[in-house]
Amino acid sequence: MSNPNWRQEFPQIKNGLVYLDSAAMSLKPQRVIDAIDHYYQDLSVNIHRGLYPISVEATDLYEQTREDVATYINSEVEEIVFTRGTTSSLNLVASSYGLANLNEGDEIIVSELEHHSSYLPWFEIAKKTKSVIKFVPLTKEGRITVDHFKTVLTEKTKIVALTYVSNVMGFITPVKEIVKLAHSIGAIAVIDGAQALPHLKVDVKELDLDFLAFSAHKMLGPTGVGILYGKKVLLDRMDPIEFGGDMNDDVTLTDATYKDTPYKFEAGTMPVAGIIAFSDTIEYFNRYSVKEIESYCMELHIYALNQLKEIEGIEIYNPNSDTAIISYNLKNVPPHDAVTYYADQNICMRAGQHCAKLVTRFLGIQSCLRVSFYLYNNKEDVDRFVSTTKEAISFFKNMGF
Ligand SMILES: Cc1ncc(COP(=O)(O)O)c(C=O)c1O
Repeated sequence: MSNPNWRQEFPQIKNGLVYLDSAAMSLKPQRVIDAIDHYYQDLSVNIHRGLYPISVEATDLYEQTREDVATYINSEVEEIVFTRGTTSSLNLVASSYGLANLNEGDEIIVSELEHHSSYLPWFEIAKKTKSVIKFVPLTKEGRITVDHFKTVLTEKTKIVALTYVSNVMGFITPVKEIVKLAHSIGAIAVIDGAQALPHLKVDVKELDLDFLAFSAHKMLGPTGVGILYGKKVLLDRMDPIEFGGDMNDDVTLTDATYKDTPYKFEAGTMPVAGIIAFSDTIEYFNRYSVKEIESYCMELHIYALNQLKEIEGIEIYNPNSDTAIISYNLKNVPPHDAVTYYADQNICMRAGQHCAKLVTRFLGIQSCLRVSFYLYNNKEDVDRFVSTTKEAISFFKNMGF
């Protein structure tokens, strides 16, 4: 059941937008926009440096977000590093932890379901360290299973870098069991939570995660803000990869020392406004449980899927998705042509490879259409999407496609 507050809190939705691209980026509720506005109207100064009241307030709000995120995912406060996004978080782990700990012949387990952000950093580090990338064989349907994971886990595995939820297939990886197996042979798990955090409650202690990366902009928060959670023992052992202002302790002509975790990883001026406003996002998720949000999204998803399945001329690639993502094509219609038709009807959705070329290769297609639902969508959105799909099919048929 939709909560009546959800839709009205999003200014763009109030203006009649049919937005079905939340897997790429979510819209922002008014309270998050207001928090950004408050920073620029009333503060607009740097953190950790000034002793005047508005700088102290900005610093307090910035650090409050760290506490809120830590409480939300059940970590310690020092285990939360602010970054630019999931991509930066995963690059930090690969370039720092990976480079320092991988040696020739060591193995890194990834999958074909990875977003490029969860694959390319390891691909590059593997080249530098002469370590070996291994892929979990996916099931026919495209899932990562515990049994398939076991077939690639060896004594040489040092890193397991997997997506929690696929941004194309919507499948949920059995992370808890996989992390346990990884730990049993002394490997660490680096989990890409970009699509998980908007839909699932993630408890890093319960899952015993070593690293978790996610982005604020996919979970109702601002752009330019990412989180890297890392176990403190691991973060303490890691070197920063960016050096500059604020992250240092002391600098002399011949030496430099750096702050403790997490501050040593936050060099220069951070996206202060966004980080402060992310606290309001977390508050939002605390107010409306993510479980409640997800069950509503799945209600819309099933409603859409059942209708799509009835339409002739559609190929759906993930009919059993665990989250509210449908990847499909209109038969014989190039997805970028199709998406233009939807765009003309003011329906915002995605066509392409979704920064996950290994997935479209696995599916044996060039690219596909993707719709994804979130809490601000409703059944009328789905109805408009379905009727536009039918119209698009007859339009392209009449055009000789
Ligand atoms: C599964 C997954 N991982 C990583 C990313 C990268 O996130 P960002 O662009 O915020 O760094 C995305 C974004 O689409 C994603 O869906």
